[in-house]
Amino acid sequence: MLRVEHLAKSFGGLHVLQDVDFDAAAGAVTALIGPNGAGKSTLVNLIGGVLRPDAGRVLLDGTDVTGLPSARMFDLGVARTFQVSGNVAQLNVFESVAVAAYRQARGYRAANAMARRELERFDLWRYRDERLGSVPSATLRLVDFARGMVSRPKVLLLDELMAGLTPHEVDVVVEQVRACRDEGVAIVMIEHVMQAVQALADHVVVLNQGRMIASGPLSEVSRDPEVISAYLGAPLGDGTPDAGPAPHPVAKGT
Ligand SMILES: Nc1ncnc2c1ncn2[C@@H]1O[C@H](COP(=O)(O)OP(=O)(O)OP(=O)(O)O)[C@@H](O)[C@H]1O
Ligand SMILES: [Mg+2]
Repeated sequence: MLRVEHLAKSFGGLHVLQDVDFDAAAGAVTALIGPNGAGKSTLVNLIGGVLRPDAGRVLLDGTDVTGLPSARMFDLGVARTFQVSGNVAQLNVFESVAVAAYRQARGYRAANAMARRELERFDLWRYRDERLGSVPSATLRLVDFARGMVSRPKVLLLDELMAGLTPHEVDVVVEQVRACRDEGVAIVMIEHVMQAVQALADHVVVLNQGRMIASGPLSEVSRDPEVISAYLGAPLGDGTPDAGPAPHPVAKGT
């Protein structure tokens, strides 16, 4: 589905990413973890077409899409949420999702219907008239997620979707992510909240200082001494999903 080959990116002389290489399968969650400044958001920006790589390729269903602009990537089925919500606080919940649907839908009526369907599915319809600036943060995350899903993407890039949520709220959002994964979306999730990584990740890619230091199931990478010292601080429970809260539910990151 999504293949990242030997991606590299520098800003000035700073090598922010070097030789990053992994696949994100359809119907699976690929988690990108690592300490602050590891290059996770930069990687997602390269995949989403916000930035162009200096080297390497991005392949979507085998087609080279490296360096295409973000609008084109969106049309090809790569949607995303942002670490810092790009939402305009003056829009209401319905408008914000409908705006994301307009690009994909044929006409306003179809876009509005898509937005309604998505909001109902995420149990957000009752918030439709509220301004984004006034809804609680967990609800706003679900709205962001609904905006990402309304275009029926092949690949959904999530940047710290769970940040700042309570454990109960994380459970709610995890359920929604799982449902989208089960529809066959390839989900690439940057996440510091280990509760969500444990519950969702089929595959984990660990970045540190721009390099991939580990890649594999969480049960494996969480035992890797380099991953523990660079990021986790301590091994994670028994590393299996649903093993309960991690000793460090939020690892070294924000
Ligand atoms: N546009 C830019 N120009 C220069 N340096 C940048 C730019 N964007 C990111 N960087 C640098 O690249 C490095 C990686 O940043 P990035 O935001 O990708 O990290 P991250 O893993 O997402 O971190 P966090 O967990 O804090 O979100 C950092 O050192 C950052 O300062
Ligand atoms: Mg980031």
